[in-house]
Amino acid sequence: MNSATLELPVIVGSEQEQGIDISRLRAATGCITLDEGYANTGSCKSAIAYIDGERGILRYRGYPIEELAERSTFIETAWLLIYGELPRRDQIRRFSDLLTENENLHEDMKYHFEGFPSNAHPMAILSAMINASSCFYPGLMGAANRERFDIHAARLISQVRTIAAFSYRKSRGLPIIYPKPIYKYTANFLHMMFSEPYQDYELKPEVVRALDLIFLLHADHEQNCSTSTVRMVASSQSNLFASAAAGVCALWGPLHGGANQAVIEMLETIVESGDDGSKFIAAAKTKASGKRLMGFGHRVYKHYDPRAKIIKTVCDQLFASLELRDPLLDVAKRLEEAALSDPYFVERKLYPNVDFYSGIIMRAIGIPKEMFTVIFAIGRMPGWIANFKEIIDDTQGRIYRPRQIYVGAPERHYVPLDARGPSAPR
Ligand code: ACO
Repeated sequence: MNSATLELPVIVGSEQEQGIDISRLRAATGCITLDEGYANTGSCKSAIAYIDGERGILRYRGYPIEELAERSTFIETAWLLIYGELPRRDQIRRFSDLLTENENLHEDMKYHFEGFPSNAHPMAILSAMINASSCFYPGLMGAANRERFDIHAARLISQVRTIAAFSYRKSRGLPIIYPKPIYKYTANFLHMMFSEPYQDYELKPEVVRALDLIFLLHADHEQNCSTSTVRMVASSQSNLFASAAAGVCALWGPLHGGANQAVIEMLETIVESGDDGSKFIAAAKTKASGKRLMGFGHRVYKHYDPRAKIIKTVCDQLFASLELRDPLLDVAKRLEEAALSDPYFVERKLYPNVDFYSGIIMRAIGIPKEMFTVIFAIGRMPGWIANFKEIIDDTQGRIYRPRQIYVGAPERHYVPLDARGPSAPR
């Protein structure tokens, strides 16, 4: 063990968070740090989102999530995340114009949708189609990443919604519905999802607002798995579309964005089995069962996720104003109540996260569960773009390249096939 002593600088963030800068450690001592799962590792300095997991605080560019949820819209918040300030009237107008100008996909992209099987998961289609978009907009690489950034960013935010709606229509064997320039962002998405060529979908303001809020609440969450993936890909100077497509893949898993679908599947299983929730809670506390209470727990929040609080209120408001009932909501509330007073969850600081109630709202709107993670991806796009921008704006930035501790075989030498022992019986 190398016993050298080394003084390391401490970096202090604007909210007094402290990080030890270990970038000179290996050069000076031969050692690296090992932090599997990165629970204790800061990968970058960022000015986009701030989370205090102990106190249940989330701010975008300094603005509390509760204020934005009450007063802003998804599109205004997207601009705030990407450009750092609340937009002036002319800035938001130009952004809206860019979104409208770019809402249609290149007509040839429609043929790509034909190639997917009808039961393809929409996240696979979303990631493939975002990446395929790179083919239609040459000149996305290198310096063009910066020079035409505004257009690429607006195009991606606008088209991810069109791709998502088209992939849903395709999975149902339904005709594609084109966007309508008169509609604002979220209304337009609902129109492309649910209108028919012979009849427009009836847009209810409370439904539009609830979905807009879901987008807004998902818009960024600092260095989570998918955002770190976007930064990783962007650090090699890949283009915006390729970086975002990688983010979609990372988001797909059930421990990340896929949890909203997993929550509904868990609630459905509980309701179908006639369990009042208590059997499931007991199983979730036993590792051998392989079950977890989906929508509970978070790597950073050791307190109620502030987004979950807002979503729960919106869920109650939507159900009241549309006079809806859903047995899944009743079970979810029972599970939450039971878990919040159960020592297993209390001791481990496991609270509802953003996914616990969002699926119930989307179900009420008529969005099928295999689209839930796609909705999350649409919402998260501004955060990914803002993080991509931080990478390309950093002229001192280096490619992301972690190290490892090798635990494999020591050096050995090649053995010819005939000398490797007898084959196992078939
Ligand atoms: N149900 C039951 N037990 C849980 C749960 C849960 N949902 N979450 C964590 N635990 C337990 C673990 O078994 C572990 O117990 P132990 O100390 O006895 O070994 C302890 O709590 C700590 O859990 P970790 O897995 O170490 O926590 P980590 O920070 O790695 O994981 C995660 C966080 C993945 C979110 C986890 O809580 C989980 O799997 N939750 C369910 C899935 C989910 O809702 N994901 C969405 C996250 S939010 C988002 O991505 C938008």
